[in-house]
Formats: sequence, C-alpha cells, structure tokens
Amino acid sequence: MKIIAPSVLSADFGDLRRDIEMLNRSEAEWIHVDVMDGVFVPNISFGFPVMEPLTKYATKPLDVHLMIVHPEKYVERFCDAGAWSVGFHLEAVEDPMPILDLIKAKGVRTCLTINPDIDVHRLDPYLDKVDMVLLMSVFAGFGGQKFIPETMDKLRHVREEIERRKLSTLVEIDGGVNVTNAPTLFAAGADVLVAGSAVFKSDNPEQTIHQMLH
Ligand code: DX5
Ligand code: ZN
Repeated sequence: MKIIAPSVLSADFGDLRRDIEMLNRSEAEWIHVDVMDGVFVPNISFGFPVMEPLTKYATKPLDVHLMIVHPEKYVERFCDAGAWSVGFHLEAVEDPMPILDLIKAKGVRTCLTINPDIDVHRLDPYLDKVDMVLLMSVFAGFGGQKFIPETMDKLRHVREEIERRKLSTLVEIDGGVNVTNAPTLFAAGADVLVAGSAVFKSDNPEQTIHQMLH
C-alpha cells in the first residue's frame, strides 16, 4: 500500500478550511492529526476543538497520532470526535492492551507508535494486535526535523516480521519525510508516509503529494 498522510500540524490554522480543501483535492488518502500535550513531548499542538473543522470539511480519514501521557483517558473521546484511526506511544503506557481494546470497542483502527530511541523489538508482541504501527523517524514533538536514517533498519525489521507472520498490519513512518526519501521508504516496505512541512511549506502542495507517490 502507498498512502501519503499530510500532517495538519504544518497547516495554516488561520485558513485551516482552505488547507483541508486542498488535501481533499490532492492524492493524499489520509489526513494525519498530531495531538501534543506538552508533557509527553515538549510542545503543545491542539486537541478536540480542531477535530471539529477537520471532521466537518475533510473528506478523508483522520489518522490521529496522540503524543500524550495517559492516552487511556482520551482515546474514546478522539474516537467519538471522528478519528478513523487512533495511535498512541508504547513508551507512554505500562500496558497498551486495555487501551487498544478501548479503541477497538469504538470500531476505530488502532496504531502503536514508538519514538526513535525505543527498541523496535518492543513492537513485536503487538504486531498481530494492532491495525498499524508507526515508527517515528524524528523525535515526536515538532515538525520540520531531519529524517533519522536508522529508521530504515527498524522499518526493514517490522516489514520482515509482518511478512514472516503473514500479517496485514500497516507500517507508517512519521517525521522528515520528503519527495527525496519517500520512494526509498515505500520500497523498503512503508505503507503510509506522514509529511508535514514537506507538503505545507511547498509552493505546490498537491504536486508535492503527487511526487511523493510517483
Ligand atoms: C512530529 C509529528 C509529525 C510531524 C511531521 O511530532 O508526529 O507528524 O508533524 O512533520 P514533518 O513532516 O515536518 O517532519
Ligand atoms: Zn505524527
């Protein structure tokens, strides 16, 4: 699968509807929604109020990435707010299973995420229990950072495990993705690429999304 999920973190919040409508027209299949609490990560982005214009205007699935402590307190509300998938960080919780169950009970797709400093093998026990895993290719917290090359080895490991165990779990990469590294990431087995600044800082975001796919 080859999906581009532009992150609205880099959108113009003064003109969010225009940016959402651009994404609706584009070849992006999903819209990535970065929620930061200022505790799990050293930055605060946005929360439930921004889900409203997103669900109102977006015609594409909302892929919610929670960078928060205590995701168990909020996952159901994000499901009710219109998330198509809800992901949270493995390293933010003691046991992800009950939280995954809360999301599943809402009929919403699940995603487990790890930051670049977390051993990728920690995802192995959950590969058959989630719809998607998200490998951060920068440290969660800010858009516009540089892709960490070591992510490639993690991607290969996860892809191999998924193939070996004949799973259909999707693999998403988030951070520092651009038109140059997108083909390499897809070729190495990524299904979904998140791109914030590469899309929204581009003179022609729709064309940039197209180029990432082709
Ligand atoms: C970082 C977020 C990313 C970020 C990606 O904490 O999870 O989704 O917005 O931004 P770029 O593509 O600019 O690295
Ligand atoms: Zn993200």
